[in-house]
This record gives sequence, structure tokens and C-alpha cells, in this order.
Amino acid sequence: MPVSTAYAPSAGLRLTEHVSRLAEEHPPIQLGSVDFTVKRPREFEARFGHVLDYMARVELEVDRNVLELTTMLPDPPEVDQQFYAVWQPQEIQHGLILDRLQIELGREPADADLDSIGLKLRILGALAHISPFQDVCRMLYYLTGMATERSAVLAYNMLHSGTRDMGETAIAQSVIGQIKRQEPGHFVFYQLSARALWAELAAWQRWMVRFMRKASFAPVGANNPRQKADFGDVMSTLGITEEIDDFAGQISRVEKELLWARHRGLKVPDYVARAFHEAVDLARDRAHLPHLHR
Ligand SMILES: [Fe+2]
Ligand SMILES: [Fe+2]
Repeated sequence: MPVSTAYAPSAGLRLTEHVSRLAEEHPPIQLGSVDFTVKRPREFEARFGHVLDYMARVELEVDRNVLELTTMLPDPPEVDQQFYAVWQPQEIQHGLILDRLQIELGREPADADLDSIGLKLRILGALAHISPFQDVCRMLYYLTGMATERSAVLAYNMLHSGTRDMGETAIAQSVIGQIKRQEPGHFVFYQLSARALWAELAAWQRWMVRFMRKASFAPVGANNPRQKADFGDVMSTLGITEEIDDFAGQISRVEKELLWARHRGLKVPDYVARAFHEAVDLARDRAHLPHLHR
């Protein structure tokens, strides 16, 4: 049985305390506690409907993420298992709440992919039975988690202001406001984990992480060209397209610090910037040439 590399005791303790605090301070949001009042449903749907759909799908796909995790990390540390137990019910509620809102607006529910695990992940999962390689997979998982949760924090902040600016106060406070408060704690978990594990990795493992991260980076929830174009549309509605390098920089700040410390002066890892620009290009092409994308 492979055993995950342990953290330094102080880092392990900090993580355990962080997870207990998340459980105490952030119980999953109950649907009954949410006020779905929309003053101008048609205008709101036209502007933010597709953003709600994208976010609902990504949140609901947490169930697939858990399946991927158990494939990729056959022997996760105990604190990670405690975290899944706190994090998964929170994310599911985020997805259910956003999905309910889009149904209230007359839209179809999100088309979430809950159980297909790609071949690449199955191969990683098979390799992860070799202990040192499992740590490489773990590191990739923490990097993805950091970028995903940071993206969620920034996107919910933007959606919150956009919703408030439209005068939809119930949605801003009760839906987006409640959800967005739970995301920073997820980011902190992945950040603490990534820093602690990176400190334990050997040079070859670090090399492997850099190599695989470059080859596999994708924006959150964007796993095929259609989803990438959808992500590009979300970026443009939220105003990220105008600040693309700043956004890419914020979601990859810790990753840059850990993986690319020797590349001084680097603002954003090139594979991150490229992926965001690609999403914007795909969305623009689809808007101009819709017949190619049916
Ligand atoms: Fe969430
Ligand atoms: Fe989250």
C-alpha cells in the first residue's frame, strides 16, 4: 500500500485546524434559507443566465472531482479526507442553489458530467500506486484546486457586483453573497497543502510536476473546445476579458512562486496566459462563425 508523504508537523497541524474551522463556520447552505427573488428576471437572465449555468455545472461536477480524486490518489492523507467531507457538501449546495436560480429564470438545468473519468486520469491513477508518483499527482491536484478556488473567489466577486449594480439585491446578498463567503477557505486549504507538499518533493518530482502542469493546465470547467468557448463568454460578461493578464496572474500567483521561482520577472506562467487567451478567441470565433459550432 503506498503511503503519502507526511508534512512537517507544524504544517500538518495548521491544515487540520483550518479544516475544523471550515466545518464549524461554514455549514452547507440550505436551499430553504435562500431568497430567489429576482426583480427583472428577463434582463437578469439575458445578462447573467449563461454565467449561472457555467458556475452551476462546475459546482455540481464536484461529485466527479471526488471520483477523480479517489482514482488519482488511492491513499490520501487523513486531513485531505476530512477536507473532502467538509468541502463536497458545500460545493454541491452551491451548484444546487445556482441551478435552482437558473430554473427560476426559465432556463434548462446545468448539464453536469458527474461520472466520466478520462483515460489520462486512469493512467495517472495506475501510476499513483507507486508512492513517489502519488506525491506528484497530489501536487497537481493541489495546484488545480488553488487555481479553481481562486477563480471562484474572483468570479463570484464580479458576479456579486454585477448583480448588485442591476439592483437585484436579494440575489446579490442571499445567493451570490452566501456562496462567495465559502470559497476563500477552500483556496486556503489548497494553498497550505501545496506549500507544505512542495517543500517535501525531490528535484525529479518537482521537474515532473512542472512538466505535467504545463501539459495539462485548463481554466476551471473547460475540458473541451465548447466549454472553453463558454468560459470565454463568462470572462467577457464578468469583465475579465479586459483584464485577462491580471486575472491569470491572480489565479496563478502561488503556483508561479512555487514552480517557477527561478524565472524572475515572469508575470504569469505562459501556459496559464495561453489558456485564457484561447478561451477568449474560441468565444469570439463562435460568435462570428456560429454555423461552425453547432
Ligand atoms: Fe463553490
Ligand atoms: Fe470552492
